[in-house]
Amino acid sequence: MANKKNVLLCVTGGIAVFKAASLTSQLSQRGYNVKVMMTESAMKFVTPLTFQTLSRNPVYNDTFDEKDPSGVAHIDLADWADIVLIAPATANMIGKIANGLADDMISTTLLATTAPVMVAPAMNVHMFEHPSVKANMERLAIYGYRFIEPGEGLLACGYVGKGRLAEPEEIIRAVNQYFIEKSKQPLTGQHILITAGPTREKVDPVRFFTNRSSGKMGYALAEVAQSLGARVTLISGPTALPDPFGVEVVRITSAKEMFHVVMKQYESSDVVIKSAAVADYQPKEVFTQKLKKKDTTLSIEMERTQDILQELGKQKQHQVLVGFAAETNDVEKYAKEKLERKNLDIVVANNVSEQGSGFDGDTNKVVIYGKDGHRIESELVSKKEIAKLVFAEITRYTKGKTEK
Ligand code: CTP
Repeated sequence: MANKKNVLLCVTGGIAVFKAASLTSQLSQRGYNVKVMMTESAMKFVTPLTFQTLSRNPVYNDTFDEKDPSGVAHIDLADWADIVLIAPATANMIGKIANGLADDMISTTLLATTAPVMVAPAMNVHMFEHPSVKANMERLAIYGYRFIEPGEGLLACGYVGKGRLAEPEEIIRAVNQYFIEKSKQPLTGQHILITAGPTREKVDPVRFFTNRSSGKMGYALAEVAQSLGARVTLISGPTALPDPFGVEVVRITSAKEMFHVVMKQYESSDVVIKSAAVADYQPKEVFTQKLKKKDTTLSIEMERTQDILQELGKQKQHQVLVGFAAETNDVEKYAKEKLERKNLDIVVANNVSEQGSGFDGDTNKVVIYGKDGHRIESELVSKKEIAKLVFAEITRYTKGKTEK
């Protein structure tokens, strides 16, 4: 395999652990880098030495057994993995991860990874059919986990039915298939930086200036980019939205914080989409104590924040830069002016005073202008559909650039 992929195999405790040994061996033979993590119960069935020998890598079990002081093992492994495989997955582990528990190394690592996760359950037929287990699996499927269905037949417990761990060959086929599909996705290999939501500019310990952005557009962009194969970093202001699956999320509060985080990630990015509603002004002075009311009027002096997008435009090298323009009038004029002034490649403009395309809604209606003169107008559709249109435009634009 030209580009060796990293498989983090999480082995949880059931009789099917013996099959995970064969799975490790076959994955290694097929050119995957395999690292194995085991639960305490899994180690009661097969020793870590078996997996160490078959994977030619150390086996991990204890979150607190930090052998390398320069790193944090469960985070490093979470980042290392191109795919995480849980095989066999017990009802207990499925229940833990569906509910966000992290009381052992596997469940902790699973919360920390943004890699895709494949789950191969193995358990007694009645356990597999239990409504709690089913509900947990359904929840994980919503979060984007993929399942490799257990087989039917005589189970180790003596029952006949569904619950037998899928055969190693079948699991490997699913892993191979995943990488084949991924390599065909339009945004594979690209690092996409997306900003979303409002910023908060502090006045005093209890007050701040903000705006009505919900972050929904930026989160939809992140979700779509991830599903198209990109590595996505979402830099988000305060929102009520959950982290999109498989996306690295960095939460910030102020425009200044957003500036620093964006700049740090700029060089490694291929595409930057600035959908955040960044404050243009911040209080010149931040009071350390709560401002007390008086009978007179109150003036707060504001100073300009740094225009992040403009700075990105100045420092642009290979990146494709996409800005947003939320306007209430003269949309085309202002959008084109932003495209020029901020050295953008694409600008997504919307009239926020039009019904259905303002802040906080689930729909939007936009006009997308490219630096190459291309213009496309959407209908009033969901923000997810808008996100798809934006990536179609980015793909069209970059293709045009490389063909020149
Ligand atoms: N933006 C930014 N940093 C800022 C302000 C805005 O990166 N400090 C980005 C937004 O994320 C968005 C675009 O710039 O992509 C919006 O352009 P901007 O000219 O700032 O629009 P408005 O804030 O609406 O300002 P104006 O009053 O000029 O219309």
